[in-house]
This record gives sequence, C-alpha cells and structure tokens, in this order.
Amino acid sequence: MIQSGDTDLNSRTSDEARRQFLELQEQLRAADLAYHQADDPQISDADYDAKKNRYRALAEQFPELSEIATELETVGAPVSSGFGKITHAQRMMSLGNAFDDDDVRDFDRGLRKYLGLESADSLAYTAEPKIDGLSLSLRYENGALVHAATRGDGTVGENVTENARTIADIPQKIDDAPAVLEVRGEVYMSHEDFSALNERHTAQGGKTFANPRNAAAGSLRQLNAEITRARPLRFFAYSWGELSEPLAPTQFYALERLRVMGFQTNPLIKHCESITDLITHYRKIEKQRATLGYDIDGVVYKVDTLALQARLGFRSTTPRWAIAHKFPAELAWTRLEGIDIQVGRTGALSPVARLQSVTVGGVVVSNATLHNEDYITGRDSKGEEIRGGKDIRVGDWVQIYRAGDVIPKIADVDLTKRPDDAVPFVFPTVCPECGSDAVREDGDAVHRCTGGMICPAQTSEKLKHFVSRAAFDIDGLGAKQVEQFHADGWVKEPVDIFDLQENYGSGLQQLKNREGWGGKSADNLFAAIEDKRRIPLAKLIFALGIRHVGEVGARDLALHYGDWSTMAAALDLAQLAAAAHRAADQAEDRERQAAARESRRARISETRTAAVAEREVPEEAAAAWEDLIGVDGIGAVLGLSLCDAFGNSEERAAFDRLLEKLTVLPPEAPTNDSPVTGLTVVFTGTLEKMTRAEAKARAESLGAKVAGSVSKKTDILVAGPGAGSKEQKARDLGVRILDEDGWLELIAAV
Ligand code: IVH
Repeated sequence: MIQSGDTDLNSRTSDEARRQFLELQEQLRAADLAYHQADDPQISDADYDAKKNRYRALAEQFPELSEIATELETVGAPVSSGFGKITHAQRMMSLGNAFDDDDVRDFDRGLRKYLGLESADSLAYTAEPKIDGLSLSLRYENGALVHAATRGDGTVGENVTENARTIADIPQKIDDAPAVLEVRGEVYMSHEDFSALNERHTAQGGKTFANPRNAAAGSLRQLNAEITRARPLRFFAYSWGELSEPLAPTQFYALERLRVMGFQTNPLIKHCESITDLITHYRKIEKQRATLGYDIDGVVYKVDTLALQARLGFRSTTPRWAIAHKFPAELAWTRLEGIDIQVGRTGALSPVARLQSVTVGGVVVSNATLHNEDYITGRDSKGEEIRGGKDIRVGDWVQIYRAGDVIPKIADVDLTKRPDDAVPFVFPTVCPECGSDAVREDGDAVHRCTGGMICPAQTSEKLKHFVSRAAFDIDGLGAKQVEQFHADGWVKEPVDIFDLQENYGSGLQQLKNREGWGGKSADNLFAAIEDKRRIPLAKLIFALGIRHVGEVGARDLALHYGDWSTMAAALDLAQLAAAAHRAADQAEDRERQAAARESRRARISETRTAAVAEREVPEEAAAAWEDLIGVDGIGAVLGLSLCDAFGNSEERAAFDRLLEKLTVLPPEAPTNDSPVTGLTVVFTGTLEKMTRAEAKARAESLGAKVAGSVSKKTDILVAGPGAGSKEQKARDLGVRILDEDGWLELIAAV
C-alpha cells in the first residue's frame, strides 16, 4: 500500500513494483513464446490470466510504470514474428518410426525391394541415438557460420542465428569446409544442466520446465540472445542439407568429417552390416539410456552408402533411407475422473479422458485420448478385443502409456479397483456443442456432428486449421486469437478474417482496444492478413479443412487442376458421378450382407454396375469423376469427401465468398526443369532396372505426374515386358510409348 507523504516508502514500493512488473513481463513473454511458437503451453490458462491481471493492476496503480507500460500492449499478443524467417535450402525432414524388431525387419525388406536387392546382398547401415531435443540447421559459407534456423514447418524455420552463436558446441568458423555447408543436428540440454536450471528458477520463484527438451526449446527461442547464452545448451551434428561438394561416400565417414571439422557427433554411432547388428546395438544403447546424461527416445538407422540414399530419396516428409527405432512407451497408473467429448473440424466427436494428474516418464499427464466409442468399450476398428475386452468407466483405475510425443493412451484398466457404482459409458448421440444429431454411419468408428456450419465447435476448429502453419499461416493470428475472435462473433468464417480491418480497424469496436492488443500489434496483424490475400492454390485447398484432404492431397489436386475455377468446375461435374459411386458402395454392402445371410457368393461387380446404371450418370460427369480419382494419390474416399464439400450449398457459398477476397497463385513449377516436367507418365509391365516405386519417385522428383491409368491426358507410357491392356489403350489414344531404356535415356540428361 502506498502511504501518501512518505516519499521514501513510496519510492521503495515503486521499485518493488517495477521489479515485479518486469518479471511478469518476462514470464508472460515466455508463456506466449511457448504457446504460440512451441505449441507447448508452459503454464495453465488460469495462471496466465492471473499474471496478466496482476501486470495490468500494477500498471494502473503505479502510473510511473507508463514509460515501460507500452510493452503492455504487446504482452499477450502473438510473438511469432519475433524471429525472422529462413527458407531452408533443402527441406528439413522428420523420420518414420519403428516400434519393434519386426518393424525394423520390414524396413530392411522394403528397402531391398525398392533397390531390387536380394536378401543375401549386403546393405550396410549406421545406428546412432535419437536425441530428444530440437533440430537446428547451420549454414556455413566459406567456413563461416552465416545463419542458423530451427526446423519450423520443414520448409521455413526461424532465424535463431544470434542464439546459436552462443552455443559452445557450434563452431563459428571451420577450416577445410566445402564452400557451402549446411550442418544439421539436435540442440539439447543435459540432465545435470536441466536440474540446475530448474533449481535456479525455483529459487527465484520462476517457472520450471517440464523436461530437458522443453528447456532446450525455450532457451534457444529467446528473443534476447543473452538469455540463451546463460542457458547450457549443447549440439550434436547428425546430418546435412545443402552442400557444394559431397562430404564422403558414406554416412559414417560424412559424420566423421563433421567431427574433424569441430562438431560434436554422438560417440555411440556404429556402422552395422546387418539387421541383427542394428538390433544388438539398439539393446546396448537402451541399457545405457539411463546413464547417458541426456534424453534419447530411440535409435536412428540410416542406410550407410550415400549413393543408395540418393536412389531411395524421400517421401513427402521423411527419407526412405532412415528410420527411428523408438524405445517402448512409459507407463503409470492413475484414476479416470471424467470423459469429455471434443468436437473436431470435420464434426468428429473425440472422447478425452480427464485424469488425476500423474507423471509418466518425467511429464505430467492429465488427459489421454479415448479415440471413439469402440475403444472405450474395449474393441478395435476390426471389432477385436483390446485390453482383454475391458471397457473404460469413469472412476476406473487406469494405466497410462506415453510414447515420445504421441498423445497418451490408456493401456489397461484394473478391474479389482473398479468402484461399485461405476457404470458403462454411454456415447452421446447428440453434439455436446450444438445439440445436432451425432451420427455414426455404418462402417465408421466415429460419431459425427451433423450440424455443419451451425456447430460452433466445428467452425472454430475449421478456423484454427485455416490459420495453421501449413495453411494460411498469418503472423499474429494463431489458434488462440482466432478462437477468441470466433467466440466474440468477429470471425464466423474464413472470409471474415479478410474483413477484420474494415470492420475493426476503426469505428466503435476496434482491435487495438481489445485485451492483449494495441495499436502496433493490430496494425501488424492487418498487414499480415493483407500479405496472405495472395495464396498458392495448394495451401488454399488444404486450408479449407475438407475431410481427408491433407497437405499432400492438396498439392496433388493443385498440380492436377492448376487453378481454382478448373477444379471447382470439375468437382461440380464429378459430384453427379460421385453420388452414383456412393449408391454403388451401398448396394455392394447390401449385396454382401444378403449373400452372407443366404450363404451364396456375392455378385459384387454386377450389383455395382446395376447401381451405377440406375443413376444415369452423364458421360462428362463420369469422365470428371474418373479423372479425379485417377490422380495419383487421390482415391474414391478423398474424391467423395471433396465432392461432398463442393456439393454442400452452404459450404460452397462460403468458399465462393472467400475466393472473392483472394488472389490464388498457380502451383509452382517444379524447380528442377527436366524433359518430363509437367508431363503425365504411366508405368506398366515389369521394370528391370529399377523398381516401380523407385521409377515413380524419380519421375515425380523430375516434375512429372505419375498416374495409375492411361487416359487422353497421358503423355508417356513406359511399358516393360508383360504390359497388357494399358499399352493397347495408349496405342489407341496415340500416347507416346517408351520402353524402360527409352525412358532412362530421356531422363538421363538430368
Ligand atoms: S536424422 C533426413 N538423426 O528426430 C534425416 N534425426 O523424429 C533427418 N533426431 O527431425 C533426421 N536424433 O530432429 C536424425 N541421430 C539423429 C537424430 C535425429 C534426433 C531428430 C530430428 C528429426 C527428428 C525426427
């Protein structure tokens, strides 16, 4: 309390207020960073609000804090623009996972098949610990560190150069390096340093980190590099991006070269000649895990010969030539306090277990996924028993299982501890958010809200998806902000985002007057929204949040149709055939069930043909449908879902409203211009010099589209021995036909 007239006391109190004010500011900023950038909230919402209220109260009580109170406007606002962005010269990939020895054998078998190797042929690997930290890419030009970037979405990361320069394990200058060298590896914190940091924070009344990975992430992503300097971060190098010249012929020696250049490489890297070697090394590392002094969550296996890595290439986000063999999950027992139902953007009702908090492998867990109705009753998607058929009831004593970053699950139920009054869970048949019917269709495990755009949960989730990183990615408009705008009725559908400035830039209600916003952050947001009026077609398609349309599907659709109006017109046509396709599916199901009842063979194809014929699908519509599901990677399920979305008049009207505000950019031409860029290629028959998968991946990497069937749009048919009807059809249509050698010659120039 300030005593008027007592200036000494007054100034002491004010100093204390200033100290608290700055401390709160730092804490709120860190919380914002964790929430918006690491997607990993470090404090509860209640705790956040309490701190913010205290912060505001201090500002009001001590007007002299006004000189630093300008910060108040930005605290609570997104800080994702805090770091500059860096586009990676080569995408930063993640890894596929193996959970047991069989998965590792399957991995090896798959590679051999892809490469056309026999089981007796040798295929060497490296095995090394999978460090549980955050990945970082370091770019050196002529031996000098020029920038450091986090992984981000794999394509664009954050510029954390100044922070990376404070890490002792990262050399600033390298002798004898290629002119361009991108080194990739993991930033992590040792157990010892982590405990000491948390102890220090506890002593200062600050917040503690849940685990070393969070601590490393929070420390690297400090806007003030001096804070990073004070944090004991380390770095292991394990791979590379762009290089002006190869480092070595093998993975093992490439890492050895990085070590000689001054990087830390993991001492447990081993060259292995067989799967048995890999698994033996895995067991050895697993035994040492607890005493290594830093967190690892598995062992990474990589094909050793770099020429083979190049042949194997990449899937959309993972290399084919590597896999992470994860350590088994961690387990703990606790009480199930309740089951909540969340409604997702496609209307799926997801049951979530609310648990008495428990620590599982060092992380506090209070929620677990319950997937769907069957999972709760103790059945999997095929109707087979899981957990020995035990159902899950509120009040049960349940075993929680957590594996790496995966959302925790319930592995078991202790029936001996089941309370007498526990009753089986009854899955809701109405949406808890909007009261519409929640329907579970035949053959589907999930209940879906039928409310569509009237369901606030669906629209809110759709909006969050719309602004997510792989979609519109608007600086300053994250999940939290768009959720608040939606709750207050400012943004009801995506198009409203593009009217925010018009509606709330001036006038009675203004964005800058909202809690957590100020003049500067509001202007920044409006500018960021303007920036995203120009959007690539693939991102737009993905952003719409149509069921089954992921990033890869959206990209395939964009490449296939080239522009929005062509796609929309094609889908309008295809809808007519989609309806027949759905009717045929249903008729097929009925026929199958009737045949089972009458113990006779089902006449599936006749039933389908009859069902389609009954619908009288115009030829053009049938062609548009065939063309859609003929796009490589787009099947009938995705096709139906797209047609449903475009055929729903409300959804379609919302798309049209949105499109009026946007300039849609055509898909980028593949960067590597080749003789087959933009051509549609079909492979048929036996290929002798490469496997089918390799042929497809190579063609795609050269910018060609690979289709499964021959049509008027096919440019080249590559026909090996044994090619049948496809070759005939190609001849009939006058499509260029090449044999395997002809194809290899055509692409040899690249
Ligand atoms: S290799 C293209 N090796 O694990 C190859 N990754 O879950 C990319 N990681 O994003 C990665 N230790 O951040 C590789 N020894 C190791 C690793 C490792 C940790 C991380 C990396 C990656 C993530 C995938």
